[in-house]
Amino acid sequence: MILTENKIFILETNRTAYAFKTTEGGVLQHLYYGRRLPRPEDYNSAPVILNQPGNALLDGDGVCREDLLQEAGTVGWGDLRAPLVDVEFPDGGRSCDFRFSHFERPENAGPAGMPAAVGGETLKVVLKERTHDLYLELYYTVFEDTDVIGRWSRLINDGAETVWVNRLMSQQLDLPAGAYDLVSFRGAWAREMDTVRQTLAGELRWSSEAGVSSNRCNPFAMVCRRGAGEEHGDVWAMNLLYSGSHLGTAQVNAYGSVRLTQGMGPLRWQLLPGDSVDAPQAVTTYSAEGFGGVSRQMHPFVRRHIVRGYWQDRERPVLVNSWEAFYFKVSHRKVISLARSAKSIGAELLVLDDGWFKGRVDDSHALGDWTADPKKLPDGLAALAREVNEQGVKFGLWVEPEMISEQSELFAAHPDWVLGHRDQAIGRNQYVLDLTRPEVCRYIVDSMKAVLGGAAISYIKWDMNRILSDAFSPALPPERQGEAAHRYVLGLYAILDELTKAFPEVLFESCASGGNRFDLGMLCYMPQVWASDNTDAACRSHIQWGYSYGYPQSVLGCHVSDSPNHQTLRRTPLRSRFNVAALGLLGYELDPSELSSDKTEEVREQIEFYKAHRRLLQFGQLHRCPTGEGECFTMVTAPDGAEAAGTHFVWENQPNPKSVPLYCRGLDGEKTYHLTSRSTPPRVTDFGSLANYMSPIRIRSGSLVEKAADKFVKMPQDELELTASGAAFCHRGFYPVQPFGGTGFNGPTRLMRDFDSRLYLWAEETE
Ligand code: GLA
Repeated sequence: MILTENKIFILETNRTAYAFKTTEGGVLQHLYYGRRLPRPEDYNSAPVILNQPGNALLDGDGVCREDLLQEAGTVGWGDLRAPLVDVEFPDGGRSCDFRFSHFERPENAGPAGMPAAVGGETLKVVLKERTHDLYLELYYTVFEDTDVIGRWSRLINDGAETVWVNRLMSQQLDLPAGAYDLVSFRGAWAREMDTVRQTLAGELRWSSEAGVSSNRCNPFAMVCRRGAGEEHGDVWAMNLLYSGSHLGTAQVNAYGSVRLTQGMGPLRWQLLPGDSVDAPQAVTTYSAEGFGGVSRQMHPFVRRHIVRGYWQDRERPVLVNSWEAFYFKVSHRKVISLARSAKSIGAELLVLDDGWFKGRVDDSHALGDWTADPKKLPDGLAALAREVNEQGVKFGLWVEPEMISEQSELFAAHPDWVLGHRDQAIGRNQYVLDLTRPEVCRYIVDSMKAVLGGAAISYIKWDMNRILSDAFSPALPPERQGEAAHRYVLGLYAILDELTKAFPEVLFESCASGGNRFDLGMLCYMPQVWASDNTDAACRSHIQWGYSYGYPQSVLGCHVSDSPNHQTLRRTPLRSRFNVAALGLLGYELDPSELSSDKTEEVREQIEFYKAHRRLLQFGQLHRCPTGEGECFTMVTAPDGAEAAGTHFVWENQPNPKSVPLYCRGLDGEKTYHLTSRSTPPRVTDFGSLANYMSPIRIRSGSLVEKAADKFVKMPQDELELTASGAAFCHRGFYPVQPFGGTGFNGPTRLMRDFDSRLYLWAEETE
């Protein structure tokens, strides 16, 4: 609900409220963002500092803006903090003083050419610069159901002269003086989403200048009170519906108050008379229940208001992807055989990854030439898709349309379509296409329409494998080069908008070398993202944990791959690879026909299990549960509380381990649940020479005897069954089966190797 009495604006969600007002002089003063309070008067409490503290300045109305909590900070007038807006007027001056003009209640307002969250109730507040005909519109959208507030800004030049926009942020949040921390998510290729908590002092940033939202630093971040934790304390979280460079700033001023701003990255925009420019939409949420509370608000928000269209609420297919099975060595025969084995393990979709198009022998060729390679696929894509379908699985395809290889027909025809100067840093032997040019965007749309319309394609993996370090467009005049990076993103969104509307039932998965463009902007067009090229179960537990703070598992592509893993060469148990991937959108990044018969059977059972619990695993609410060091425990619970599942993952096995209970989260305290565990029997090979302790004959590691014993001796596996109330599982916890720790092994012992795990399932017991 939005209340707008007496120039006080109160934006209420189910549990939170955001309030601001206009000062007597018309400056927008921020009042409050926190728990919802009982009476509207409760919000109007923040002071306006009228006396002059020390050498701080007063504005024309005698207000000291240096420490005034505000909605739209600018350059000058005594405010020294990072501004929401930074414009340069014709005389070169940047001081700017926006005052309240009026407010409106528009329907369906979103930034031009960029995606916006669906639904909600919007307030538009219009401010005018005191001495120039420049207007700043602030848009606030309230998503009551998920306790989220959307925000973006628009600048309109109503004057007769050009002004330059150096900065136009999407949101600003000023918090009162206190002790806070910043939690941001940083990384690199194959190491996405490392959770970094820093004491907030001076100025910290979370940002990307890579031209993409980036694996270096995700746009999602949280600011919390110093003592806040997983389930307690005040936390404010921010995110951006934008896929290009971004900037988040967190500043503590001289008086201890905090200014947070978030928006697109470096910008210099020429705003001609009569023109306007928009910032992308940002979102923020507040929870008094720690980081877990933020996730329980952000996840349903993403599911209901960001992801949209045909796949929004549909269960996603289990897929087999050809990349780590074949890399570039693709052929018609191999694809059909992969489809056959995909079907045999129960998968529903076969994705033909890179290597399928004309001349694509390695990563230095053919990007831009989107027709099937006649040598590898002589019958073409349509026949291939048909034959794949005849095997009983759907057909999906990899594309990387924003890129161009120097060795391609497209490059020969249009060398000027490359973004940046001819002489530039090169990544993965490829250049980026200049999406600021409408004719380039048209080429991409038309070539993709030809691919998608020419064969029975049910799924597209849309990749983007390099960053934009020097955003320069030969098609733009010098004075517009500061717009190139943003115009690239606008071009991209126009392409995605047209294509996803033209093929509404195709399942699009966004990818950028894994998670280099994992953001809410892409998720408005594509309902899922390939979270990381790193499929190592140990690394994935960590990466998926990081994503889980701001994103639900229903948008995370998670695959089981071969062992040793192709990124780390680490060997992990097959059950762990599944148990980790099962709390996301399951796929297999391997050739099932290469698996031994017992592993094939194990995979078949995994997929059967996954399908039986797919709604819970994909759309249940995810919880990060407490554990000791070196392990993690993640649960998903059904909305009606009737079932739950959880993976307990241990990085390093310990001898003589402590008995530590696992504490659940999200179960209904009043309900009774029956817990079962999912395991696989230990193998003789797990024991090495220790097997001789039991064996009547000598077993040498790696010998034929060991192989035979491994095949025929069935060892007892650990199983856990318990019945208790949800409250008991959450507060008293439960003890997993006692682990093997150097001595003694019998049936009830849980054999854990390094990087091992167990998956647990809770089902409500009814009379
Ligand atoms: C990127 C993707 C991979 C794979 C390759 C193909 O690295 O992240 O999953 O599709 O490209 O070239």
